[in-house]
Amino acid sequence: MKVDWKNIGFGYYPTDYNVRCYHKNGKWGEIEVSSSAYFNIHMAATSLHYGQEAFEGLKAFMGKDNKIRIFRWQENAKRLNLSANGIKMSSVPHELFHEMIFRVVKLNKDYVPLYGTGASLYIRPLLIGTGAEVGVKPANEYLFLVFVIPVGPYFKEGFKPVNIMICRDHDRAAPLGTGNIKVGGNYAASLISLEKAHNTGYSTVLYLDAKEKKYIDECGPANFFGIKGNTYITPDSLSILPSITNKSLQELAIDLGMKVERRLIPVEELSEFDEVGACGTAAVISPIGKIVDVDKNITYTFCKDGKPGPISAKLYKKLIAIQLGEETDKFGWMDVVE
Ligand SMILES: Cc1ncc(COP(=O)(O)O)c(C=O)c1O
Repeated sequence: MKVDWKNIGFGYYPTDYNVRCYHKNGKWGEIEVSSSAYFNIHMAATSLHYGQEAFEGLKAFMGKDNKIRIFRWQENAKRLNLSANGIKMSSVPHELFHEMIFRVVKLNKDYVPLYGTGASLYIRPLLIGTGAEVGVKPANEYLFLVFVIPVGPYFKEGFKPVNIMICRDHDRAAPLGTGNIKVGGNYAASLISLEKAHNTGYSTVLYLDAKEKKYIDECGPANFFGIKGNTYITPDSLSILPSITNKSLQELAIDLGMKVERRLIPVEELSEFDEVGACGTAAVISPIGKIVDVDKNITYTFCKDGKPGPISAKLYKKLIAIQLGEETDKFGWMDVVE
């Protein structure tokens, strides 16, 4: 197969197989392997009407030694079940999650981008209510499906700072809502603000806490962090998704002798950070060059030389080196696909 891995971007890309499992009559059935990108669904399925839908996103990498490794899948398995519990769906047993993601990667191993291309295989587990209900209540049947797509390096031009804008006219989640779980409704709620940011030349938005609009919450579909001296600071909020990348960066920061603070971050504190960034599976770290507060006519500027800050760069390189098997995985984050 000849694929131009460096230029494939981040979008749907057909692969050969996906795996599926249905939960019916109170139990999970057999794993089915499918080569169709479609499935039949009842028109009254709760996922279509009442948002009973959760998903995950994780990656498999071709290592330097030509072994395929999956990054911290156990964390995604746990988070999927937090999402399932949060919207009253059947949870997915850890072993079933494991079996399905490893199986789908093996079935599509020809699509794992080569080492050195910067590309990887994105794994998308999806859990949806398929049972028919018209009253507002949880479905009695669920589908757990996993597909994979090869994705290119997030930054085609390399690891470069992006500009973002503060968003005050939309919230992605309510203070006691579903912001801390990975359910479709949060993403639907973010579409208007993201489009507005893109149309005005920003790569994403910085959401503030929905209640008071005083503190930093999330950075589009990614977590926010700031570096101040030797400290890595990231928001503490009930409405942000617990990012596995953020968790890993915090562990790496501690390992590098830094302090880590998880606390409220007032917007004005942006003027005190040495470096700021967004983090998530897609890009690991997007260093932020400018944060524009359009309503208050304030611009917070970072990376004045146009380059990512040194600590962000160090953390980014460390995490990528572990993912690619270039550096010893002393945290036990990578699992080889045999
Ligand atoms: C809203 C949101 N926040 C944060 C993240 C980053 O999480 P992770 O590092 O687990 O990919 C994601 C992406 O999964 C997300 O959608």
